[in-house]
Amino acid sequence: MRIAIGSDHAGYEAKERLKLWLAEGGHAVDDCGTHGTASVDYPDFASRVARTVARGAADFGVLVCGTGIGMSIAANKVRGVRAAHCADPYTARMAREHNDANVVCLGARVSGSGMVEEIVASFLAAPFRGGRHAARLDKIARLETMTDGDPRCGC
Ligand code: RB5
Repeated sequence: MRIAIGSDHAGYEAKERLKLWLAEGGHAVDDCGTHGTASVDYPDFASRVARTVARGAADFGVLVCGTGIGMSIAANKVRGVRAAHCADPYTARMAREHNDANVVCLGARVSGSGMVEEIVASFLAAPFRGGRHAARLDKIARLETMTDGDPRCGC
């Protein structure tokens, strides 16, 4: 698979480990940075990875920051991206099976070495189940086009 990966300074070391592990697993890895431990802003790297996935240049994205939260909030601003913040392998599997997530966000200060690999392995191995889940994703996609006053907003 083609995997775009990115992190901020808090996720840098985990990102470097994941990059090697993914390459050893036969994946083509596009490292979108950061490239050191100097303090940087996570939205810049979430944007790079999310846009790479959204334009179809990568099959999936992997983002790492301190908690995974900032990366997931930022990545989900990019149209077509469904970023899932995962701290365990079960959630990662469900993020693919039910939510067709295309980006997984990890917290390097929460999930240690070994666990982040297990989370990403579960994520990449699980298929999207389609069916009723696809109809729900259509509703999520429609949220991107709605403005206040639209009767479909439900408010
Ligand atoms: C950086 O200190 C930290 O705020 C960032 O890595 C991330 O956890 C944000 O959500």
